[in-house]
Amino acid sequence: MLRLLLVVQCALALGTMDSQHVTLADEALLTAEQASRISFREDVWPILNRHCRGCHTASDAKGGLSLDTVADMLKGGAGGPLFAQGKPDESLVMDMISGEVPEMPKKQPALSVAKVQLIRGWIAGGAIDDSTESNTEPVVVIPQTYQFAPSVTSISLSPDGKLVAAACRSEVVLIDVETDAPPRRLPTACDLLTHVEFSPDGKLLAAVGGSPSRSGEIYFFNPVDGAIISSRRIGHDTLFRGSFSPDSTAIAVGGTDGAAHIVPVDVNAAVRLFPLHSDWVLDVAWTPDGKMLVTGGRDKATKICSIEDGRLLRSADMSTELIGSVACTADFAFASGRARTLNGYELKIALSGIGVTGAGNDAQPVTNRDQYVKAMESQPGDVLDMGTSLDRKLLAIAGAYAEVRIYKTDDRQRVALIGMVPAPINAVALSADGVRLAIGSRNGQVQIYEVTGGKLLKSLIPVPVANPRETIVVK
Ligand code: HEC
Repeated sequence: MLRLLLVVQCALALGTMDSQHVTLADEALLTAEQASRISFREDVWPILNRHCRGCHTASDAKGGLSLDTVADMLKGGAGGPLFAQGKPDESLVMDMISGEVPEMPKKQPALSVAKVQLIRGWIAGGAIDDSTESNTEPVVVIPQTYQFAPSVTSISLSPDGKLVAAACRSEVVLIDVETDAPPRRLPTACDLLTHVEFSPDGKLLAAVGGSPSRSGEIYFFNPVDGAIISSRRIGHDTLFRGSFSPDSTAIAVGGTDGAAHIVPVDVNAAVRLFPLHSDWVLDVAWTPDGKMLVTGGRDKATKICSIEDGRLLRSADMSTELIGSVACTADFAFASGRARTLNGYELKIALSGIGVTGAGNDAQPVTNRDQYVKAMESQPGDVLDMGTSLDRKLLAIAGAYAEVRIYKTDDRQRVALIGMVPAPINAVALSADGVRLAIGSRNGQVQIYEVTGGKLLKSLIPVPVANPRETIVVK
């Protein structure tokens, strides 16, 4: 590894016995012979991928610059080519990443001296491109026929209740509820999709996911013909679940960075980050007026923030277990997860000013938690997903147990129960009018029910499978 070579022992020069902690302050440490051995694929690409590609890819090229390939670097952005072969001192990229306060990576800590030296050395050595296709873009393989049914990670019903979209590993599968048309498969370049959702106006289908430690990705499809309308990469890690804004112009999703990411459908509009949690944000829901977000995360917290400025309005609750799913109506926020106790939070009371009682040394903050927490019936197992109807009057809850329960959100009373479902259920969705329910199971099945009466309309494994473990029943 070249990196080892770079830690040159120069205890003598420093006049100290400690040769372990030598930093690469001196460019001369890199000999021409060493520079010629720097590999783009092994040494330079990982630096760009880790520190730059969050903002510089073909699908999200800040400053008009993509750093996907050496050819992209040579093309450069508005300022022209990023480097001149063999001439690091005349290369724009060196300007940007070195100096007192390096301009790039923007708003992030400067690259270490060793990393700057690797890039400099690579350019000095002739900027040889030894990349292979797979180092720049991991190839996501979507099998024509799966050996075993892939788990359904997320599900959504179109507002008219006629189409179901299911996330199966790297692809979205569109199922026609009312006909026997074969499911349509929409591939993505995500390693794993975590969320699919029709926009409230029915015009878009979003697919959210990414590749761990590489990038988060969002696709917007046209649900009519399955064409990709736009896609973009966000950050360095997989994105989690979330929801469309009520006006269908943006989607809010969770991130491993503890932030809710608000991603406009318009790819030219900036992504907004609301860093509210100390751990992964696993789900995000909008209030129906589009003014607030409810977020839940691995840090066990449920939070409410303002869309206008991202301000935290209330840490509504702290669970004993992670919060994997949140939902919201005009009056209540709901959060659930591994703790089987389920709570509704009355927004008006939760958000009314946190006052102080008493005076002087006796002053104490008013904790009105008891007033706004409305306990619901507990669930038989871990809750894995919740879904609401478009008017938010119904809430469906499913998880690691063989039933789906449907509640009225205003009084939190159960109105329906669908039993004998193929547990665990990863994903649950209601149609806009609350008439149909779709579920996606860990064993790869998709089922569609009528909420009232619980009639099974369709049950299938939506992708071709060589060894189906369940019999496929249609209708
Ligand atoms: C957080 C986002 C972000 C990150 C991370 C980032 N950049 Fe940038 N970069 C930008 C933006 C935005 C611009 C457009 C100019 C500006 O606003 O400063 C830009 C412009 C540039 C330009 C000038 C392009 C031109 O031709 O005008 C270069 C070169 C560049 N970035 C290199 C890098 C490198 C190399 C890294 C990683 C070490 C990096 N950037 C990381 C956001 C980022």
